[in-house]
Amino acid sequence: MMHAIRPLPDLLINQIAAGEVVERPAAALKELLENALDAGATSIDVDVAGGGIKRLRVADNGDGIEREDLALAVSRHATSKIASIVDLEAIATLGFRGEALASIAAVSRLAIASRAKDRPHAWRIEVEGGTVGPVAPAALASGTTVTVEELYFNTPARRKFLRTEATEWAHCNEAFRRIALAHDDVTFTLTHNGRAQHRLIPGGRRARVEALLGDAFVLHATSVEAVAGEVRLTGFAVRPAYAADAPSTQYVFVNGRHVRDRMLAHALRDAYRDVLHHERLPAYALWLSIDPRRVDVNVHPQKTEVRFRDAGAIHQFVRHAVERALATTAAEQPAVSAAERLGLAAAHLPPRVPASAALAREPGVSGDAGFSMATQTAMPLDVNEPAAFYRRLFGERASAPPVLPDDDPHPLGFAIAQLHGVYVLAQNRAGLVLVDMHAAHERIVYERLKKAFDERVPVQPLLVPATFAAEALEVAAANEHRDALDALGFDVSALGPATLAVRGIPAPLKDADAAALARAVLHEIREFGGSRALDARRDELLATMACHAAVRANRSLTLAEMNALLREMEATERAGQCNHGRPTWFHLSLADLDRLFMRGR
Ligand SMILES: Nc1ncnc2c1ncn2[C@@H]1O[C@H](COP(=O)(O)OP(=O)(O)OP(=O)(O)O)[C@@H](O)[C@H]1O
Ligand SMILES: [Mg+2]
Repeated sequence: MMHAIRPLPDLLINQIAAGEVVERPAAALKELLENALDAGATSIDVDVAGGGIKRLRVADNGDGIEREDLALAVSRHATSKIASIVDLEAIATLGFRGEALASIAAVSRLAIASRAKDRPHAWRIEVEGGTVGPVAPAALASGTTVTVEELYFNTPARRKFLRTEATEWAHCNEAFRRIALAHDDVTFTLTHNGRAQHRLIPGGRRARVEALLGDAFVLHATSVEAVAGEVRLTGFAVRPAYAADAPSTQYVFVNGRHVRDRMLAHALRDAYRDVLHHERLPAYALWLSIDPRRVDVNVHPQKTEVRFRDAGAIHQFVRHAVERALATTAAEQPAVSAAERLGLAAAHLPPRVPASAALAREPGVSGDAGFSMATQTAMPLDVNEPAAFYRRLFGERASAPPVLPDDDPHPLGFAIAQLHGVYVLAQNRAGLVLVDMHAAHERIVYERLKKAFDERVPVQPLLVPATFAAEALEVAAANEHRDALDALGFDVSALGPATLAVRGIPAPLKDADAAALARAVLHEIREFGGSRALDARRDELLATMACHAAVRANRSLTLAEMNALLREMEATERAGQCNHGRPTWFHLSLADLDRLFMRGR
């Protein structure tokens, strides 16, 4: 049956908006904090109770609200921050939509007490589920105190979506952290259920970052500092060698606003690509400042996404800035990398290394990839021990290379040695085969996983659960995304507020490091934003898992193991490239080698 079209009542409009603007207590807290900052506060006290569901209170010493504006502050589309489209195109404040307080007030019991600058008295107003009460006198020395209680008390369907108190608290804590990181010139305190959590005083960015992200983060980071015209990027990027030790700390602020921006995340991934082993996570905290006219913040109800007018140029600028910062670090380290070594050798090579006829069907061996694999490998070789090297290559190899039959059915040949725990050397009828064993094995495991996950993947229960220290947000994510983890074959649960236990992992990965694997998967699930996104990104997740399960570099393999790897490669689809598109093996024919040694034939 059709209904007549009619306008929605105001309260319902606000409740609908609340679904987007304040989907959880942490989002409401963020709005209150941003209002305080927009009011010019230099000191902000935050009090959270019951994960923010029971109470959020933000007290600031900012400019305050005039008595006659109090009712306006909680009505929809009322703002003091912008007045025209010109303002909208150059937003200098954190808020501008004029809907946050109205949305929060529609789904909670809200009270605002405020004393406008230079006024002799303070005034307060209360709103209960959208019903605005009268303005009454209040006692307050300065600034504004906003109290939000019983969030979603009048929208039970919404309330049902809230998670446990611990989870909501973890999100509130994170919202606070983002704001406090972006505003190191402001004093902040945070309490939860009466217990002090943070007390931050202005002392410069480094001190603020240390206080919130830990000393180790700053210690292991290199500073980033780049300017191009009026665009400026500053902050910290963790050196690749420490990337695994740091938790997945990734913060980007644009004009003092924490954002999640795909383009910037991509630029940063690119910046790390050459120097970071792909299973490790880049870690950074970066501040971008840009003319507000060149960035649109009016993209997302929660104002967490932005759109750059010159996205391409910003991408390049950020990537280069961080690449350069990380490169400096590498130069400080004297270790000679495989890339440099082989890069030199490659200079003597003919530009193209033709694939032999037998191997031409292999898609991974496109001629012009040539020796560039060398420059894609950042694995340092220990060149100081040539003796050990030769011993490994020749001295301890009892078995002679096999004599290969003319109708050799194995295009990848037979293993003769392992080079520095990284490459397998094999000989086939036409010459030499070099295999990056980790990359190759990773692809094999990945393809195997894809097959296994087409059906319901069996879970391998662990006799002894693997436990690991986790951040509150990781614990929260494990609770929140239990179904998604379950579907992936993981049994992960909280053992305590800062400990997770892995009790089961996907059976095809039973030999992997369960804790590291679970942790990586949790990180990705968080990045993807939950189970709905998971289906679409299943393969990416499986690739991450495969990486963890594949043989590590620097593990020595027996000849039998190496040959088994070669046979599996021959039987696996797409085995010519690793999961990240890099080649897994190369072939040098005898003719190529002859040319290398200038042996005329
Ligand atoms: N802590 C505060 N101190 C001073 N004024 C405030 C404070 N909080 C809110 N206000 C006033 O109330 C108005 C409405 O706040 P609200 O958060 O709803 O909208 P906004 O901040 O203008 O935009 P947005 O919806 O994007 O946050 C603000 O424009 C501001 O004038
Ligand atoms: Mg606001």
